[in-house]
Amino acid sequence: MQVPAGWQVAARLEALEDGVAKDVLIARQLVLLLREGGEVLALQGSCPHQFARLAQGQIVKGWIECPHHRARFRLSDGVCGSGWKLPPLKRYATKLHEGVVLLPDPLVPLS
Ligand code: FES
Repeated sequence: MQVPAGWQVAARLEALEDGVAKDVLIARQLVLLLREGGEVLALQGSCPHQFARLAQGQIVKGWIECPHHRARFRLSDGVCGSGWKLPPLKRYATKLHEGVVLLPDPLVPLS
């Protein structure tokens, strides 16, 4: 497979279960991948509080809850829920190509 310029391989789409978070290490950064139907979301994979692996947290109604101290982050935009004053999770563009999930190369977050 030829990877399009400006992109890098993150995971095979078939390795992602619908609605189940998985994290991958890309360019020394933990990235959380979440498949929803034919779409894949990519967010910062470590909690901005004390760096817990968010992929080990619970997903409830469009939010992911950190497994350590239960801060919640909205999956659609990374915003932290009420009760915490943490920065939003970084979000990354994704692209599906020949059954593979691609992330930007270099790994620059969406603004
Ligand atoms: S490490 Fe995530 S809320 Fe503390």
